[in-house]
Amino acid sequence: MKEELQKVLEAAKVDIAQAGSMHELMQLKSRYTGKKSVLNGFMQKIGSLPKEERPAFGQTVNVVKSEIAEILASREAEIKDSEYQKAVQSDAIDFTMPGRKREVGALHPLTRVWREIEDVFISMGFDVAEGPDVEDEFHNFDALNTPKDHPARDLSDTFYLDKDVLLRTQTSTVQVRVMENHKPPIKIISPGSCYRNENDASHSPMFHQVEALVVDEGVTFVDLRDMLNVFVKKLFDDKIESRIRPHFFPFTEPSAEIDIICVKCYGEGCNLCKGSGWLEMGGAGMVDPNVFDMLGIDSEKYTGYAFGLGMDRIAMLKYKIPDIRTMFENDIRFLKQFK
Ligand code: PHE
Repeated sequence: MKEELQKVLEAAKVDIAQAGSMHELMQLKSRYTGKKSVLNGFMQKIGSLPKEERPAFGQTVNVVKSEIAEILASREAEIKDSEYQKAVQSDAIDFTMPGRKREVGALHPLTRVWREIEDVFISMGFDVAEGPDVEDEFHNFDALNTPKDHPARDLSDTFYLDKDVLLRTQTSTVQVRVMENHKPPIKIISPGSCYRNENDASHSPMFHQVEALVVDEGVTFVDLRDMLNVFVKKLFDDKIESRIRPHFFPFTEPSAEIDIICVKCYGEGCNLCKGSGWLEMGGAGMVDPNVFDMLGIDSEKYTGYAFGLGMDRIAMLKYKIPDIRTMFENDIRFLKQFK
């Protein structure tokens, strides 16, 4: 039996040395030292030996068992180490590989124009005023001298959130808020979002205006004309002129619509200006004395001008954007073009 035991030990040494993975090693462990292992088989055979030989044989089995356990343990350490080395190598970072490209963002064309416009006016001494997008009828209509039955108040033009709660249809609301809280001289612009119930290539339900309001003693229509001309030249280029055409707004008298020379053909006539040589930019006028009276400003002493320009329109002209709606869809392919 002793020779057989020796043979088992030799076989175990060979098998364990050849085990290539932890899985194989665990199988060998149970084969040689587990419950149903060869060594346990020897233990069960002890009973068939003469009594005096039993203790010595039992001891020999145990020695072989612990020898095998030792070989198993040292092989386990070897395998674990080589598996770790393999993992380290396969996870290793290759510092010579080209880096992953980082996408650099860009300002939205409207944001750019917005900031440019603010810069131009700030450089001419204007302050920037703000008002809320959600307004009441007083600031959007009543204080702007707009009659109760004016069509602009209609549901088909104005988004009402509740009775007397609406999304402002124009930045002229900020004229009212500024005049409520400040005495002349007043010299502000107010850029911001406006909302109207319309939706096509040149009208978005949300759009942007920049309002200007100048109130002081002796402010005239000539000042308005002059300011508009200076502004469009600074914003576009020196060859761009503005012109005004008679129009009507409830809160200005006289009122005018503002055009500028077509930025594409410089007045020759092209597809952008539909052959007219001019592009429409917004509305303007001298503040109606009724508005001053409603807001507690002395209309005998003070005069003022106001204008409102479409900022989306300006962005579309500057960046050659044919459809206003593309500006607010947040399609990354559109936005990427303005890097
Ligand atoms: N608020 C007017 C509009 O939205 C434009 C305007 C502003 C007209 C200031 C006159 C003075 O059409």
